[in-house]
Amino acid sequence: MPTEKINENIMIERKGDIALICIDNPPVNAFGLAVRKGLQDAIAKLNAEGTAKVIAIYCAGRTFVAGADIKEFGKPPQPPALPDLLNEVEASAIPVLSIMHGTALGGGLELGIATHARVGIEGLRVGLPEIHLGLLPGAGGTQRVPRLTGIPFALDMCLSGRQVGAKEALEKRLIDRIDAGTPYDVALQAAADVISGDLQTRHTDQIDTTPDDKALEDTAAMLKAKQAHLFAPHKVVEAVAASTGPLTEGLAVERKVFMDAMQTPQRAGMIHAFFGERAVSNIPEAKGDTRPLDKIGVIGGGTMGSGIATSCLLSGIPVRLIEVAVEGLERGVNTITKNLDGAVSRGKLSADKRDATLAMLEPSLEMEALADVDLVIEAVFEQMDVKKDIFGELDGICKKGAILASNTSYLDINEIADCTSRSEDVIGLHFFSPAHVMRLLEIVQGAKTAPDVLATGFALAKKLKKVGVLAQVCDGFIGNRILAHYGKTASYLVLDGASPQQVDNALERFGFAMGPHKVGDLAGLDIGWMTRKRKAETRDPNERYAGDVADRICENGWFGRKTGKGYYVYDAGAPVPNEAVATIIDEVRAANGITPRQFTDEEIVDRYMTAMIVEAARVVEDGTAKRPLDVDMVFLFGYGFPRHRGGPLHYADTIGAVELVKRIETYAKEDPNYWQVPDLLRKMAADATSFADLNKEA
Ligand code: CAA
Repeated sequence: MPTEKINENIMIERKGDIALICIDNPPVNAFGLAVRKGLQDAIAKLNAEGTAKVIAIYCAGRTFVAGADIKEFGKPPQPPALPDLLNEVEASAIPVLSIMHGTALGGGLELGIATHARVGIEGLRVGLPEIHLGLLPGAGGTQRVPRLTGIPFALDMCLSGRQVGAKEALEKRLIDRIDAGTPYDVALQAAADVISGDLQTRHTDQIDTTPDDKALEDTAAMLKAKQAHLFAPHKVVEAVAASTGPLTEGLAVERKVFMDAMQTPQRAGMIHAFFGERAVSNIPEAKGDTRPLDKIGVIGGGTMGSGIATSCLLSGIPVRLIEVAVEGLERGVNTITKNLDGAVSRGKLSADKRDATLAMLEPSLEMEALADVDLVIEAVFEQMDVKKDIFGELDGICKKGAILASNTSYLDINEIADCTSRSEDVIGLHFFSPAHVMRLLEIVQGAKTAPDVLATGFALAKKLKKVGVLAQVCDGFIGNRILAHYGKTASYLVLDGASPQQVDNALERFGFAMGPHKVGDLAGLDIGWMTRKRKAETRDPNERYAGDVADRICENGWFGRKTGKGYYVYDAGAPVPNEAVATIIDEVRAANGITPRQFTDEEIVDRYMTAMIVEAARVVEDGTAKRPLDVDMVFLFGYGFPRHRGGPLHYADTIGAVELVKRIETYAKEDPNYWQVPDLLRKMAADATSFADLNKEA
């Protein structure tokens, strides 16, 4: 039988001395149960037949195996386990080769290096991305990669999860050669070459890893200093260290630490992040007809406008940048130039493409220059009347069908839209600073926004390689509205007894890259000060005021990093606490009759996170966010929320609604106005349901 279907994912084809095994499991040929079983049967069958002189494994579709099937994680494992299967492949009496195209990741690369020769097809990228899932390679990657590449490179691959291009993979012996052609044709040729001796085969398990204790010790020390809160990175070092011994022993160490990592909440959080990132734009609003995005206008050359322009330019979209005055325009062009230089030094843009990218920028002092653009993004300061004037003007200038977007972080898109004659073309596109780096884009739907305008917002996010999240109009949309609420908790903690540094340290230990006071200093304390003043008139008289300390800091002209002082003092070295702030805090406490009390780090995290969850629950309850996972993605991609916690509402599920309600009711005894149980949370506590259930229902 020349061709034989082993199961729905695996096919054998026999051609003389050559046997081909095709893996076909769209979309990314993940190593699901049927693939594992089918491959095991195919290898066993061909060995039992004993007629083929070589077996070549290749994949149908867009890529070689992109790894284990992540959807199976967390469920009871079903045999054959991938490491056992790969050992069987390696033990095959008939030489096996793999033909790798697209992205050979995780278990896919591990399959490749368990076979006896590997041919990469031009454009191939290989990698061990398990670390991004809270895991480490679990099917021989920590054992066979160091045998081929040496320990330092193996550590780099496992810890960075980066994709390695074909050329580098060849240099590091991860593949044996690079060919051009379809996987099928390359497989036939490479198999013939194995038979003729033109392509050598070898067993990775017979190669010894060159010991490198220094690399292991240095890496362990670095991880202890920088990633103490994570589980998997430390286990990578443990497993790679075991690769200098016999393969079977090393594989046993790897299996043990892989299974341990699989049990951690960090793994669950990171896999929630992986699927959330994809699910967030998998909604009807993101699909359907779109409008062109061939030329974009950006109004405002400040930090936001320049960052947005940079992001568009980096994605190959020509930009018209508009400012009212020459100095502003020059500042904008300079910022964009610096941003692009930064992209070159970070390896995001090649040096020879920099000038061509900058040449796509057309600065102008005339709004009329926006007459032929497809989309205008207004990024001037947050004042409703200024924005209304701009949109009124745009209405008269822009071509029919052009999309008019505001980058407002708080303001009512409907009010802005109503001052045009085309409110269906108006949308909110809320970028996060620095806009060419941060991946979040809140896509704010106005009451009259046309469906194709909304879908174009998602198309823009995709083009800019950002994560587009649908939000409805409210003060602050999803992210800033929640921030406005829980940010007060940080201030209350300081008023009641903690120091800003203790709050920052506790939250950094929880996993945030920076505590809230450091973030405030970085963003500029004047922004919050202006907002507090803007809202002073409408503030609920029963609300406990949270801004006393920050107001006093700002009154001194200390706006954070940009003025050299804020909660911290920024001189040459690492920031140090601003001692004058401690005095301000004492004075404010005395003026308000507060006797300071002690908070443990755990209490700080609990209060802060509970406040975040409370407002996040309300945002889901009133439909500002479509699903809990949308809130989670906003925080992961826009607010530095620790990825291994999955997002505020994934984290909420790890606490449970019953416990959260209990906590809120306890805190409410101190401040019943601020601490109120959202109806949704109360209902979830009563029904024993979770935010994950709501994600499934949506
Ligand atoms: N398992 C299950 N589903 C997967 C998957 C995997 N390993 N990788 C991707 N998918 C799914 C995605 O969820 C997505 O599904 P929907 O269309 O339903 O949203 C679909 O495949 C396409 O994925 P992308 O949208 O991401 O497509 P892309 O072309 O932009 O990227 C990719 C393709 C580079 C392979 C990317 O999907 C990716 O990085 N996948 C993860 C790879 C990975 O982490 N592999 C390691 C797995 S763990 C492992 O292998 C452990 C071990 O050692 C045994």
